[in-house]
Amino acid sequence: MSELEDLTTLVRAATPLLVIETVDEQRVIECFRHVIAQALRPLWRWTLTDGLQRLDFAAAGDAVAPDATATLDAIRDAAEPGIYLMFDFHPFVRYAMSLRLLREIVQRQRSAAHTVVLVGAKIELPEELEALALRVPLSLPDIKELAGILRGEAVAWQREHNRRLEVDNEAARTIVRNLLGLSAPDARRIVRKLIYNDGALGTADLPVLMQSKFDLLNRSGLLHYEYATASFADIAGVAQVRAWVQRRRAVFLAAAPDPVLDPPKGVLLLGVQGCGKSLAAKAIAGGFGVPLVRLDFGTLYDKYQGETEKNLREALASSELLAPCVLWIDEIEKGLASGGGEDGGVSRRVLGYLLTWMAERKAKVFVVATANAVHELPAELLRKGRFDEIFFVDLPRGEVRAEIFAMHLKRRKLDPAAFDLPALAAASEGFSGAEIEQAIVSALYDVASGGELDQATLLAALGQTRPLSVLMREQVDALRAWAQGRCVAAD
Ligand SMILES: Nc1ncnc2c1ncn2[C@@H]1O[C@H](COP(=O)(O)OP(=O)(O)OP(=O)(O)O)[C@@H](O)[C@H]1O
Ligand SMILES: [Mg+2]
Repeated sequence: MSELEDLTTLVRAATPLLVIETVDEQRVIECFRHVIAQALRPLWRWTLTDGLQRLDFAAAGDAVAPDATATLDAIRDAAEPGIYLMFDFHPFVRYAMSLRLLREIVQRQRSAAHTVVLVGAKIELPEELEALALRVPLSLPDIKELAGILRGEAVAWQREHNRRLEVDNEAARTIVRNLLGLSAPDARRIVRKLIYNDGALGTADLPVLMQSKFDLLNRSGLLHYEYATASFADIAGVAQVRAWVQRRRAVFLAAAPDPVLDPPKGVLLLGVQGCGKSLAAKAIAGGFGVPLVRLDFGTLYDKYQGETEKNLREALASSELLAPCVLWIDEIEKGLASGGGEDGGVSRRVLGYLLTWMAERKAKVFVVATANAVHELPAELLRKGRFDEIFFVDLPRGEVRAEIFAMHLKRRKLDPAAFDLPALAAASEGFSGAEIEQAIVSALYDVASGGELDQATLLAALGQTRPLSVLMREQVDALRAWAQGRCVAAD
């Protein structure tokens, strides 16, 4: 592993002060155990609770009191150059005495060529020390290490239970792949949970794995996770979208990039309210067979005043760690007002960041954005090349309406064959899918208790509904006119 080689080189070069920001102390120790196998040095660990302890072999000797000054004194006076892993030592550096002693060690005044390693979750140093320090990023475990963790936990379980763990090898490989992006302790904790749940590792563990991973990575709190998404069977009238997704599925999921075809990046679903945009976004995730992560764009602004951009950055970075996935930005116009307005600056920068991220991201994150109102969308977003395609989800045609009736009747345990579907379709001209569903729901309430829903009751319910396309004819017409020639029909 090149990371270890780098550390070894740094120690051999007698780099005096290293800073490693991590909570994974065990990993730091493991790394340095490898380092001292190459560069023979005594390895020490310091914690406030245990003080200085030698790790490479048990050394008899006078124990040093754990307090900061005594510790630094002992390090300064040690004749043999050593490596000192100082866990959570950095708070003491604020004190004059500690700062001075540490500088003397680092600058080799009356001291051997030690390497002091400050380890902590977040380490801020006074300027004079920062200038002398080298910050070393500790990379996350790779596939091989993660597979090792899984094997280790499996063996431990088998020893404890005295029987074989049932392992579906294909699922185990998928699990390991999905642990990428996690620290070793987090990965270990999740694997243990999956194994101890049911004494098996199989496909049934995947939803639990993704949910656990999501909980760990969703630091911004702006992402919502859905493993079981809708499928295209749950939505009528988006045949083009479905075919589009099917054609790209293999390339999207392929482990290696296709030599000819660009990986699909994302689509914008534009359309009339209640015609199934949100449902289609879920079906796209189902079509690709990956989890759906929803980014709450509307609350991006209210939730963290002044931190909008930072949180967007974090949310997008988290989504990459969850790849492959579909990132769904519902009602994107709500977060990207095109007009100047009070927060014009922020929403400009948010848009800029989003567009750059969309163009440059390497991870398998497929973006599905949905919008009702096109005039509120900034022109940059609609420009060719941003999205692979802009689909227009229109009011359903007659045939599709019949299908929607059938779907929702069936969902409520009613037999569509008992209804005259073409007549229902004819009576619901201008209705959206949501309005058709609503009519069925209200008709069910109109049925006297104990009775069955019939054609006449359903027709009556339809007659009482004034669809949005009638109430807001101008808006709907304007949207349709705009979509003409600019968008691909979803149906
Ligand atoms: N084409 C359709 N096929 C089946 N059901 C549909 C269809 N369109 C809408 N529905 C029903 O209406 C509900 C609402 O649809 P959905 O939320 O997907 O619409 P939308 O276009 O996202 O609306 P909005 O613009 O209000 O967000 C769906 O959950 C579904 O039950
Ligand atoms: Mg919606």
